[in-house]
Amino acid sequence: MSETAPAKRLYIKTYGCQMNVYDSERMADVLAPLGYGMTDDPAAADLVVLNTCHIREKATEKVYSELGKLREMRDERLSEGGSRMTIAVAGCVAQAEGEEIMRRQPAVDLVVGPQAYHQLPELIARSHRARGERLAADFAPDEKFDTLPSDRRPTGVSAFLTVQEGCDKFCTFCVVPYTRGGEWSRPPDAIEAEARSLAAQGVREVTLLGQNVNAYGGEGGLAGLVRRLATIPGLDRIRYTTSHPRDMDEALIAAHGEVEALMPYLHLPVQAGSDKILRAMNRTHTAESYVRVVERVRAARPDIALSGDFIVGFPGERESDFEATLQLVREVGYASCFSFKYSRRPGTPAAALPGQVPEEVKEERLSRLNALLDEQRMAFNQAQTGRTLKVLFEKAGRHPGQLVGKSPYLQAVHVTAPDRMLGEIVPVKVESAAQNSLAGVVELETA
Ligand code: SAH
Ligand code: SF4
Ligand code: F3S
Repeated sequence: MSETAPAKRLYIKTYGCQMNVYDSERMADVLAPLGYGMTDDPAAADLVVLNTCHIREKATEKVYSELGKLREMRDERLSEGGSRMTIAVAGCVAQAEGEEIMRRQPAVDLVVGPQAYHQLPELIARSHRARGERLAADFAPDEKFDTLPSDRRPTGVSAFLTVQEGCDKFCTFCVVPYTRGGEWSRPPDAIEAEARSLAAQGVREVTLLGQNVNAYGGEGGLAGLVRRLATIPGLDRIRYTTSHPRDMDEALIAAHGEVEALMPYLHLPVQAGSDKILRAMNRTHTAESYVRVVERVRAARPDIALSGDFIVGFPGERESDFEATLQLVREVGYASCFSFKYSRRPGTPAAALPGQVPEEVKEERLSRLNALLDEQRMAFNQAQTGRTLKVLFEKAGRHPGQLVGKSPYLQAVHVTAPDRMLGEIVPVKVESAAQNSLAGVVELETA
């Protein structure tokens, strides 16, 4: 943060996945030299950026309703003689339907895709001159990363770090290969430099991000990268997400057993438990091969917490297919999960498949799946009571004198602890468990 009050105010609203969270931070970095400082209040902002998500229909609809509200805000301010608000749409909706956004909502000043936001300063200048192209949607991840400022200003003790972009897997339900482009990996040197800069500013944990992060193609693969980053002083915790079951190689599995900084948590989406559905999804793995991967990971790191993504109601999913999903969940045992109703996305192969499942059937399957997943999460949380876990304190809790941190298994942990422990990794004895968090007490040093 600069010492003087920022000349211009920037409000960014982030939708979607962690990659968008990272991108939003980097947009702020790109705009800081132009005098933009962050604000929490869109009504007071000179520039509003909506960093959007296209993954499901609901996420996309939100953008248009939000834009309607922003337009009113902007017009109101102008009619009161206030300053002009610039409205930008970034992210995956911008990439997928940039032209349409500009047509449907003329209040939008500029549109910028996920691989082009380093061009924000130019786009803003052009939109203010009302001349030139106001849409940037080219796939230029290398140019983007080369242009972004090498120094970041982290917002906490845990930071996201994008190491890989895009996807070549083309699951038949998914828009990501079209919105983020093909698989591309950042060079390890650039990633290490960014991680060192974060660590030097007090960051204790990085989560390496990629659409298919374990397909990281830089020298040494993801396992090599993890080992390299684990040597950075101060960087005590490394996580990564999201992985594809097909890219869980031996080296990465071995790292889970050997690298202390690599946290015992793995997000490994499976989507469904029926091989027929997995084939129709073009997942390139079976239920059986997924379970084998999980077994290998558990052999290397027995206490690892597993999480996954599930889609219910994919076209052609019958009751027996859905039961295979429940069966797989029972077999694996998850610590946490994300479950979705299939959403038909324009332009994806699955949208044209016969056997689209009625909404009420999706709804019913989702609630049955969630009941099982909630049960497993609660059981996993309860299994931690009585144990001492190392907790990284990240922020103040809801109650005075309380801090909230994360366990190695990514559980939120509420603890009565002094503020000076913020940013520290402290042993905590877990006393109770709830659906979404643990509570405990700081374990005093014993001689
Ligand atoms: N690259 C990651 C995540 C992609 S999007 C991966 O491959 O795992 C995150 C999750 O959204 C997916 O894992 C999937 O479960 C869900 N998803 C993607 N497209 C969807 C769609 N059309 N309908 C419902 N859920 C979807
Ligand atoms: Fe989408 Fe599949 Fe790629 Fe994941 S692996 S981003 S679900 S296409
Ligand atoms: Fe959404 Fe794009 Fe992420 S579609 S999930 S913001 S990659």
